[in-house]
Amino acid sequence: MSNKMWGGRFANGPDAIMEEINASIGFDYRFAAQDIRGSLAHVAMLAEQGIIDRDAEKAITAGLEQVRREIEAGTFTFSRALEDIHMNVESRLAEIVGPNAGRLHTARSRNDQVALDFRLWIRDTIDQLDEQLRDLQTAMAQRALDFAAAVMPGFTHLQSAQPVTLGHHLMAYVEMLGRDRGRLADARRRLNECPLGAAALAGTSFPIDRSQTARALGFDRPTANSLDSVSDRDFVLETLSTASICAVHLSRFAEEIVLWTTPQFGFVSLSDKFTTGSSIMPQKRNPDAAELVRGKSGRVIGALTGLLIVMKGLPLAYSKDMQEDKEGTFDALQSLSLCIAAMAGMVRDMSPDLKRMKAAAGSGYAIATDLADWLVRALNMPFRDAHHVTGRLVAMAAERKIPLEKLSLTDMQSVDPRITPAVHDVLGVEKSVRSRTSFGGTSPSNVKNQARSWLKRLAKETPQT
Ligand code: ARG
Repeated sequence: MSNKMWGGRFANGPDAIMEEINASIGFDYRFAAQDIRGSLAHVAMLAEQGIIDRDAEKAITAGLEQVRREIEAGTFTFSRALEDIHMNVESRLAEIVGPNAGRLHTARSRNDQVALDFRLWIRDTIDQLDEQLRDLQTAMAQRALDFAAAVMPGFTHLQSAQPVTLGHHLMAYVEMLGRDRGRLADARRRLNECPLGAAALAGTSFPIDRSQTARALGFDRPTANSLDSVSDRDFVLETLSTASICAVHLSRFAEEIVLWTTPQFGFVSLSDKFTTGSSIMPQKRNPDAAELVRGKSGRVIGALTGLLIVMKGLPLAYSKDMQEDKEGTFDALQSLSLCIAAMAGMVRDMSPDLKRMKAAAGSGYAIATDLADWLVRALNMPFRDAHHVTGRLVAMAAERKIPLEKLSLTDMQSVDPRITPAVHDVLGVEKSVRSRTSFGGTSPSNVKNQARSWLKRLAKETPQT
């Protein structure tokens, strides 16, 4: 049997393999709510413009509401022979309301329909992700306030560099996620134009009112070029690139959690809630959630790469290749959502070992810069000379296997006789972090201020509906 939606010129049905490669209902069923929303707006506009009569409008509207209820209740039967969500909905509509259902598709094509559904879906998903990111930032800023003064080593090259605080480290991620949310908001602003009414590619001869449907669906305006409207997937690409950057941020923190929870670092531990055991090594507690957050970033980046490649060779306007825009996107954004939730869980769950972090902060001569800075300040030495003197003191301490602050004044004066006992005022990890009061620096008072102002801002942001 030929397809009942478009089979007029077809005598026979497709080969089974054709049906399999062609169908998208296996994944685009996720657009059901958006598809019905779009159709309701379209049918209202058609009636308003006198393109269909009010009886047809009423019948179609009631029928669409019924289809929605059936889908929500799980009683709707999706059919692969009907290819996609658009034809599944319309075919059921025809069963419910009869021939009037056929008027719904006036001045519309599946090309503008799918472009609309996907925009609506992406917009909803952006709003959900934004809310989740807000929650993760809140969790991080709260913990940052708790640990504003908790000293730990700061690294460069993964070598102890200078002491920082755990609060400062957490606030670094709050900033990153803030930028991610900014990028999501930018993508949302740009995508918020309505492609409905572009029809197949050239627009339509019916007197439609595209501004009405745009407004009804919460868009700022209709898209301006019908060819662009049906062939554009920038809104997916932008969202996936934002998602990729965000996934990379989460992956970097996940990597740190993996390191920090090793017995070798021992900076933090996670409870039973976010770890698993080994079936052979009874002592083990593995940070699987963190590893999976790190691992899933690959899928998100993969979806972006995949779609860029799908799009790169497509002439205007719609080509069926574009049906490949969905599965990777669904998978990527669902994975990201799960990763954000897991990260928020781990941030709330983790308990730092403050003693161990502090001890580690002092090892590796991490306060050498403080000593050099003191030489500059107290003795008016040029920084390069101070760096050299400090290097010699570090070498001396390292040779004796003692920390810098354990060098006697006499020893220090043997390197530079101008050094006074006041040098001990700066030797110590807590003193070091307290002194880093420059804007954006790691001092506990800075960190507290930053965390408090973020928490205030986050509490004020009401979730978009
Ligand atoms: N299922 C299709 C997609 O996802 C809908 C658009 C079909 N358009 C067409 N001209 N066959 O892209």
